[in-house]
Formats: sequence, structure tokens, C-alpha cells
Amino acid sequence: MTQTTDAALGSLAKCSAYSAAEFPLEGRLAEAQVLLRDDLSAVERLLRESAAQGPVPSSDAARHLVSLGGKRVRPMALLLSSACFGPVPAASRHMAVCVELIHSATLLHDDVIDEGTERRGQASARVVWGNAVSVLGGDLLLTHALVTAQQHAPALMPALLQTLRQLVDGEIVQLRGRAELDVSEAVYWSILRDKTAALFRFATSAGAELAGASARHRGLLAEFGECIGMAFQLVDDLLDYAGDQTGKTMFADLRQGKLTLPLVLAVEQEPELLGWLQQIRAGDQSRVPQLRQRVVASGACARVVEKALGYTTRATEYLEQLPASPARALLRSVAEQLADRSR
Ligand code: FPP
Ligand code: MG
Repeated sequence: MTQTTDAALGSLAKCSAYSAAEFPLEGRLAEAQVLLRDDLSAVERLLRESAAQGPVPSSDAARHLVSLGGKRVRPMALLLSSACFGPVPAASRHMAVCVELIHSATLLHDDVIDEGTERRGQASARVVWGNAVSVLGGDLLLTHALVTAQQHAPALMPALLQTLRQLVDGEIVQLRGRAELDVSEAVYWSILRDKTAALFRFATSAGAELAGASARHRGLLAEFGECIGMAFQLVDDLLDYAGDQTGKTMFADLRQGKLTLPLVLAVEQEPELLGWLQQIRAGDQSRVPQLRQRVVASGACARVVEKALGYTTRATEYLEQLPASPARALLRSVAEQLADRSR
């Protein structure tokens, strides 16, 4: 069934068993913030302290990005995954900082790779300080993250290093795809799994492990994390075509000639669009609005939302196999908020 983008976004926002009217999504997220208030403020403090460390100007670039906020979805997912099994241990707070440091490092690098000019509604660090400073700011944050993990959760180092390798692999395969015309859906899914879902998976499974969860429960939370990561990136890729409040450069994927799922699906239906994509890649930016318009008109955006909804539903199915708890209910809210967010 094909829906309009608006209808599909609406159904993504309402995929909870609760009715949105009785139990508004924003209310449940606020509830997560209340439940985790002490943990989240400790994480925020540690994060900002960490980002300020190191020589200027790269620590300025790191601080700039971290101080612009963001929803801190990854730390929240890690803390709630721990809270499913009892009081949140101190190590979980440190690892919540670690995952946000890694995420921030990847954004500083990603904006260089993608030539992004805006991030979280402000000029990106590379615009303010230049590419070299921005890359080194990312390197600083990455080393802070590794030191944090080594100090507070050394047993998680192998999984963390494997996750970092996936992030890099995903970004490389995506970069390679910019020079190719036949990016298949399969390649797109592997990019998503590596560059985005892997860090969510690490966050939720680390949260469970640090709280002493059983292997089965850790596995369920790992799958949950991967599914919300997939949905998160699907919506992110969709917003490049359909959103206008992302706080990031609009149509950046298209301008870069990046083949994300809306374009992959539109091209499957209308292969002649590849000609326009080639022109954009050859430097003809005047084709960007036209191609965007054709992608939206093709109905591809609504199909992307349906896929994101599928991942969100799968995520909640994994959750339902965990013991009921307030933290489990709030993890469900985190999954559901993905339709209504910007980074
Ligand atoms: C944002 O994607 C980027 C990522 C999710 C991963 C970036 C990964 C790297 C740069 C490699 C690994 C780096 C380190 C430091 C380990 P996007 O461009 O689709 O999202 P956007 O629209 O927010 O820019
Ligand atoms: Mg980018």
C-alpha cells in the first residue's frame, strides 16, 4: 500500500499501542528525561568537560558541536537499556558519554566528507574553523571516547573497536557509491547498518551488559538498537528530500550526488532519472530542485517511511520480549520519536 508522505509520517508517529491523544509522544519523551534526569545531567556535564579538553582551535570545534545539543538519543538508549535491569551503574553513564563522543566525532568528520555547511541549525565547525581543524576536533573526541571506554568498561573494547570499524566501512562504501550509478538497495542497507545502526546496536547492548543482563536480554536489546538505528537513518535520508526543519544543509545528499533510498527507489521506477544524477555529479546543480521534485512525485518518500515504520515495529517486538518496566516503556518512546526529530 502506498501512502502520501504526510500520512505515512503520521502513521510512523502513531505506531505505539498507546493512542497519541491519551499519551502524547512528547510527554513520554519528557518522562524519559525526568526518569533519567540525574543520569542525563551527569552525562551532559562529562560530555562538555571532555569536549573542552585538548589544544585549540580543534577543541573549540569539538566544543562548538557538542554545545549545540542534539537529542542525545544514543546516550538515552544506553541508559534506558541499563535501567531495564535495575539502577543505572556509573559505568553506563560513562559509556553514554562515550557513544555521544563517538557520534559527535563522526559528525565533525562527516561534515568535511559531505561538505555540510549547517549542523544543528548553526554553521558547521568546518565552516567556522576549516576542514583540517574540524577533522582534528573529531579525532580529539574519538580519543576521549576510547580513553573513557578503556577506563570504565574495558571488557567492551573489542565490541567498540568492531563498531568503529563498521562506521568507517559504511562511510567508505557510501563514498564509493557516489561515483557509481548502480547503487542497489542491498548496498544501501549495508551502508545504513554500518554507518548508523552499528552505534545504536552497541549503545543498547552495552547498556544491557553493564547492568548485568542475561545473554538473551542483551541480544534482544542489540537487535532493538539496530532496528531503531535503521529507522533513524531512513528518516534522516527522507528528511533530506521531504523535511525543512532539519538544522542541516537541505538537499545535501542530492547536491553531493549521494544515492540514498528515496533516490534509489525513484530510479528503480524511472531509470531516466540517472541522467539527471550524472549531470548533478558533473557539476550541474541546476538539476537539483528538478530531481528532488521527481523523487517526491514518484511516491518514493512514502515507501521509505513505510520501511522506517517496519523497523520501528520490529524494534518494539524485540522490546516486548523483555520484562515489563518503566525503562522498557520509555525505550519504546525513544523508538517512536524517530519520526519527529532533527540531529
Ligand atoms: C552521518 O550520515 C554520518 C554517519 C552516521 C557516520 C559517519 C562516519 C564516519 C565519518 C566514519 C567514522 C568516523 C569516526 C570518527 C570513527 P549522513 O551524512 O547521512 O547524515 P547527516 O545528514 O546528518 O550529515
Ligand atoms: Mg552528512
